[in-house]
Amino acid sequence: MSDHAPASNAPASPVKSMDAIMALCKRRGFIYQASEIYGGINGFWDYGPLGAQLKKNLRDAWWQDMIMRPCWGKQGPGGREVRCVPLETCIVQHPRVWQASGHLAGFADLMRKCPKCGHFVRADQLWDTIVQSSEWFASLIQEFEPSPEGTQTPQMNADRLLKWARTKGKKLAPNLALVRNPEVTLSWLVTRVNGQPTAPPDVIEILRHLATEQLNATGLQDPCTRCGAVLGEPAPFKLMFETWAGLTQTEDNKVYLRPETAQGIFVQFKNVVDTNRIKIPFGIGNTGKSFRNEITPRNFTFRSREFEQAELEFFCPPDESLEWYKFWRDFRMEWWKSIGLAGENLILREHEKDELSFYSQGTSDVEYRFPFTAPGFGELEGIAHRGNYDLTQHQKESGAKMEYNDTERGELLPNGQRRGERYLPHCIEPAAGLDRGVLAILCEAYTKDESRPSPEFMKFHPRLAPIKAAVFPLVAKDGMPEIAEKLHKELTDRFWRVGAIETDEKQTIGKRYARMDEAGCPYCFTIDSDTLKDQTVTVRDRDTGSQERIGIDNVSGFLADKLQV
Ligand code: GAP
Repeated sequence: MSDHAPASNAPASPVKSMDAIMALCKRRGFIYQASEIYGGINGFWDYGPLGAQLKKNLRDAWWQDMIMRPCWGKQGPGGREVRCVPLETCIVQHPRVWQASGHLAGFADLMRKCPKCGHFVRADQLWDTIVQSSEWFASLIQEFEPSPEGTQTPQMNADRLLKWARTKGKKLAPNLALVRNPEVTLSWLVTRVNGQPTAPPDVIEILRHLATEQLNATGLQDPCTRCGAVLGEPAPFKLMFETWAGLTQTEDNKVYLRPETAQGIFVQFKNVVDTNRIKIPFGIGNTGKSFRNEITPRNFTFRSREFEQAELEFFCPPDESLEWYKFWRDFRMEWWKSIGLAGENLILREHEKDELSFYSQGTSDVEYRFPFTAPGFGELEGIAHRGNYDLTQHQKESGAKMEYNDTERGELLPNGQRRGERYLPHCIEPAAGLDRGVLAILCEAYTKDESRPSPEFMKFHPRLAPIKAAVFPLVAKDGMPEIAEKLHKELTDRFWRVGAIETDEKQTIGKRYARMDEAGCPYCFTIDSDTLKDQTVTVRDRDTGSQERIGIDNVSGFLADKLQV
């Protein structure tokens, strides 16, 4: 599925700064670069104390709402109960699993290698990459802007390009045709622009001409994003990490780190059916790490090489599958909204018919408008109708029978029972990424308000907030710390399952509130001199900064009500 979708027509609010969000994540211990003290390792990220708890809360919310009480107890199509069971499968599977799933043969990106500097570029993202991140492009495109004297033709000015080729171009893109052979390249280009009977070329076409050696209209070639040389032909680049199981490190012992958790579910489908009293329709859900040797890991954790997925495979009779697909697609959108991603930044994108796999009757993506995709969207989760493709593949490859005997269907016998109908169930797959989920939640929560003592704060949904509440003595004397500690312990004893309760008596109360705001803690309770007189405390709301007083005995109930636990 594609990672990035184009912009919608919805009005966009100002784009948040990704640099500021990443800085806060580092400063407050949400996300660190993996192996940072060794210079980091591209495509790998660690979660600090606040990030690890935030991610756990997201994983728990998924587990609770998808497996323990699927879809919040809603009924499925035709009033059917939604039943799901959990599973945990291995990262390393038998290599034939990947043979059957098609990953061994097909899980590869087409890459183009630069013959001059050795740089690799993803073939399908070449021009996006050039436009978004090529240094020479950013510099060259300025030469197409109108000159201050206003004398420039709209499309290009050969003198400026020549100057660019001899100065900046030499440093930034020494292998671009325009830099190596400026006069010839430009003379042809001027002819092309001025002598063209049809429409003049657009900027991208001009750039392709600037890169190419063959000076004719059909010889346009693509330039390296780094040095400008003409790129080589696309060739497949395998995305699965390989290792060995056993002592001999040979082809025979080669195994792969799973690129998705889904296949582990399909290969255990029969065992789950045979060892549980569960009947179709039902789902099997799991969360766990997956690995893809992404060529261009980028955008913080958005595209990583090690990431966590939360996938459900929901098995149903073929003739009910379209209804179940629509049911899951709509629920998954509602679910992301329920944990704080509501609004213009979230869309459900139904794939066009020509985007679907041959076995699929429908696929849609839940997409979020990340700061780095804005005004477009990036995929958070794909909901795919997979037909019986995966069970068919594993049945063929392993020889194991994957059919399900549906005793609620088939011919009615004289004894009132059904003969049973054997079929390969169809499968609906809501496949979410937990790291992308956390990233979307961090981006959505990040709020800037210069008028507050904490100009940056995190508006997490209370269910996800890693710190649920903080208890502060206003000052560290007059018995206030002791009362605070007692309340802190009482709240920890009650709420530890859902998140942390903090306490802190250092610094001014304003600074302590600001620290909690940055961590996204929704409520702070403060013990002050009035507490000593009337047994009340101040409750401060993170989002509004407003304060009210409630009885100290009511704090636990107040918090339970707000957290809905
Ligand atoms: N079993 C289907 C499957 O794996 P996918 O669209 O490739 O489908 C599902 O992956 C989700 O996993 C994506 O929507 C995304 O959230 C997450 N994901 C995929 N590749 C990722 C990567 N390199 N880094 C972080 N998350 C990724």
